[in-house]
Amino acid sequence: MMPRIPRYLALFASLPLGTLAQSNPLYTDAEYFQPNSTGIRVNNGFERVFIQPFGPHGVRVRVSLNRDPAGTELSTLIDPPLEGPGGNAGLAHDINVPIGGNATLRNGNILAEVFKNHLYFYRFDEANDTKTLLTSEYFDTKSLHSRYYARNFMSSSFRAEYSFTTTPEEQFFGLGQQSCCNDHTVNKKGQVIDLINFNSHIPMPVYMSNKGYLQMFNMASQGRLELGAHRVRFVAEEAMVVDYWITAAAPGNYDDLQRQFTAVTGRQPTPPEFLLGYQQSKLRYYDQRQVEALAQRFHDEQVRVSLIVIDFLAWKYQGDWSFNNLAFPNPEEMARKVKELTGAELMVSLWPSVEDLSENYITLQQRGLLATTRDGTGIHDSFQGVYTRLIDATNPEAREFVWKRLNDSYFSKGIHSFWIDQADGGSLGEAYVNNDQDLLKSIPYHRPFTEYFAGTQEATGKMYPWFHEQTIDEGYRNLTGSTQNQTHQTTCDYMSLTRSSYIGGQRFCSYLWSGDTESRFDVIHQQVTSGVSVAASGISAWTLDIGGFSGLNPETPEGQHLFVRWFGMGVFLPFTRVHGTRSCSIPRTAPYHRPNECPNEPWSYGEENFEIIKKYIDLRYELIPYVKALFEELQKTGRSIMRPLYYDFSLSDPVVAAGTSSNEPQIVHQYMFGPRLLVAPIGEANVTEATVYLPQLGEAHADLGSWKFWWTDEDFGEGGGNVTVDAPLDQIPVFYLGDKEDIFSGSIWSE
Ligand SMILES: *[C@@H]1O[C@H](CO)[C@@H](O)[C@H](O)[C@H]1NC(C)=O
Ligand SMILES: *[C@@H]1O[C@H](CO)[C@@H](O)[C@H](O)[C@H]1NC(C)=O
Ligand SMILES: *[C@@H]1O[C@H](CO)[C@@H](O)[C@H](O)[C@H]1NC(C)=O
Ligand SMILES: *[C@@H]1O[C@H](CO)[C@@H](O)[C@H](O)[C@H]1NC(C)=O
Ligand SMILES: *[C@@H]1O[C@H](CO)[C@@H](O)[C@H](O)[C@H]1NC(C)=O
Ligand SMILES: *[C@@H]1O[C@H](CO)[C@@H](O)[C@H](O)[C@H]1NC(C)=O
Ligand SMILES: *[C@@H]1O[C@H](CO)[C@@H](O)[C@H](O)[C@H]1NC(C)=O
Ligand SMILES: *[C@@H]1O[C@H](CO)[C@@H](O)[C@H](O)[C@H]1NC(C)=O
Repeated sequence: MMPRIPRYLALFASLPLGTLAQSNPLYTDAEYFQPNSTGIRVNNGFERVFIQPFGPHGVRVRVSLNRDPAGTELSTLIDPPLEGPGGNAGLAHDINVPIGGNATLRNGNILAEVFKNHLYFYRFDEANDTKTLLTSEYFDTKSLHSRYYARNFMSSSFRAEYSFTTTPEEQFFGLGQQSCCNDHTVNKKGQVIDLINFNSHIPMPVYMSNKGYLQMFNMASQGRLELGAHRVRFVAEEAMVVDYWITAAAPGNYDDLQRQFTAVTGRQPTPPEFLLGYQQSKLRYYDQRQVEALAQRFHDEQVRVSLIVIDFLAWKYQGDWSFNNLAFPNPEEMARKVKELTGAELMVSLWPSVEDLSENYITLQQRGLLATTRDGTGIHDSFQGVYTRLIDATNPEAREFVWKRLNDSYFSKGIHSFWIDQADGGSLGEAYVNNDQDLLKSIPYHRPFTEYFAGTQEATGKMYPWFHEQTIDEGYRNLTGSTQNQTHQTTCDYMSLTRSSYIGGQRFCSYLWSGDTESRFDVIHQQVTSGVSVAASGISAWTLDIGGFSGLNPETPEGQHLFVRWFGMGVFLPFTRVHGTRSCSIPRTAPYHRPNECPNEPWSYGEENFEIIKKYIDLRYELIPYVKALFEELQKTGRSIMRPLYYDFSLSDPVVAAGTSSNEPQIVHQYMFGPRLLVAPIGEANVTEATVYLPQLGEAHADLGSWKFWWTDEDFGEGGGNVTVDAPLDQIPVFYLGDKEDIFSGSIWSE
């Protein structure tokens, strides 16, 4: 059965959708150009280049030196892809090109051509039988080779530098989540991006171009991306194979690019409904009595809550993956009480670090399940005055070990949600080693030479967090006896929250938050650019710390004001989650590490604000059908939830197109939350009104009428200019399209 393509989308569906997999509704009914080659193999001296059709309108390129790729290298591609051709093809090829030779293959609308030893990628236009160059390998008469290698004589791996052409005005979107908190861009052109993970910095080597293509490097290597005026250079510090994928769509059609990209890297399974409600967290609820009192208060105040979070140091030693039973003597009872009082689930934090005194250390060391270091000490970092080692999550045996502990300590006792913190990889996830030792942060030591089951940190470390997501995802499915398999899972009973991820992380029952942000007004705006960029990298299951992580004092008017403004934005995010380490005048007296007593609950920000926060929480629950529908669409087609304005308006509105290109603050600090809501968070103190740019609605929006102000239903017409609206604390500037009742009933398209 062919689902009705909403008119809203149909306009963009200018390219044939194809007739690939009969089972897939997206590819029935229209023609799709089947690949006219199984692959091209170029033998260029010691270098072997494989070019193959893979996924919808996609081409995969793999290059190895001296020998063919083993096929066992780490990969985030799903093979066979969820849609499109090229699955289970190994190194298949039917064209052999000798040095200097030429060949072309086509898959759907993309052409890959080898000519005089360089690769070119074109979009093929059926209508007029023409091809448009998207990008090609970069070379000049005197330049480094476009595929450039350096080898370390100690091993067969190599360093690779790959260069591609670009033009000065080209725009690049996505690239994961940029470091907190000064990057206010959605167009990343001109930037140099360090491909290394740490707290709040999750760069991913994937970008969409305004020329109508998406390119991604299917490699877990640390390295660098240089997005220069004429050349894009991808640097992998260590690789066994270079592996990248490129797909094409009509310029401006970012939804097709996401659909094609998620067809090969995975689609987000839909969250359980409870997680779409309000999530309460702070650093930190440190004992059982406190958690139960908190639930009692939510019950007494009649404030709805869906998740209550227990942060780090709830363990005795790092790597126990269980509660310190002095602080949490009866987890089962606690979970039961919280559920009874509020209906909420509990979530607990886990860290990847293991200290010698942990009850698991000796076993893990004996069985080789801890990451090691090249110098043999195995020490990756220190925290709370002890040296720690990392669990080797890249080893399936280690994942099974951790899950067993989590099950025994928590899951089997009614605590089903897990928070993967600090597992960014290499060390404890900060930009420095010696975590938590403030004065030592600026000593420029190299990071430890971490080695895993999967390889070194340099070669495989970008995927370390991804394997933690896998641990819990696999554990859930093993325990609940789900018949769904890894790559085709469509729903989640529970989810983990994670500080880091990687390309394809959206296939897991896991959601990402933006790490430790600072509590400042400008960060509210910065978070919009973080959120839409990570969505443009395929990951829509995203949230942040409402209020920011550090620097907020709830006793001050400024702190209260900031929190309420931030809360307004939180209502219109994929997940609504309050968290942070607050500062205040209450002394820390409890006999635990970091027993921060400062409050961070809806009632902690003054009586008037409590009323506003309650109103926002109620609104969030009213919006659940809409949010759920957005997640269902994401699951089916990869359609992003938080949408930078260029997704929907770069074709209909030149102001959006230009403002996106130049990262104009007003344009990049607003976003669409699904197809019907425009959100313009307030990122300044003390304002009473807001000027919002309403994008010009195009033909694609014809069914959705005009822009209406959320709080008054006032009609502002079809956009194309600024409007000024009242913006008291309880009214974040939001505009909607279509009928408000449709939004509340979860209908995201016009009928
Ligand atoms: C491609 O190679 C074929 C033979 O291998 C040659 O005849 C042809 O001229 C080449 N095409 C171009 C454009 O160089
Ligand atoms: C595949 O199709 C393209 C576009 O029509 C053409 O240029 C190319 O030569 C074809 N390749 C093969 C191997 O048939
Ligand atoms: C072919 O058609 C596409 C739109 O379908 C257009 O962008 C392109 O410029 C056309 N090329 C030529 C040479 O007419
Ligand atoms: C899930 O079950 C499979 C099959 O028994 C096992 O190989 C895997 O290690 C389990 N995963 C976890 C995280 O326990
Ligand atoms: C999880 O815990 C339950 C209850 O203790 C136990 O029956 C089950 O075997 C455990 N499963 C795993 C994978 O550890
Ligand atoms: C996973 O499920 C899909 C869809 O049902 C199926 O095509 C695929 O073969 C399964 N894979 C495995 C490893 O069972
Ligand atoms: C906001 O208003 C308060 C109270 O009038 C004042 O103390 C504060 O400096 C103002 N903040 C800014 C950023 O203007
Ligand atoms: C809208 O207002 C902003 C400042 O708030 C200004 O920079 C921009 O030029 C205005 N845009 C239009 C189209 O008037």
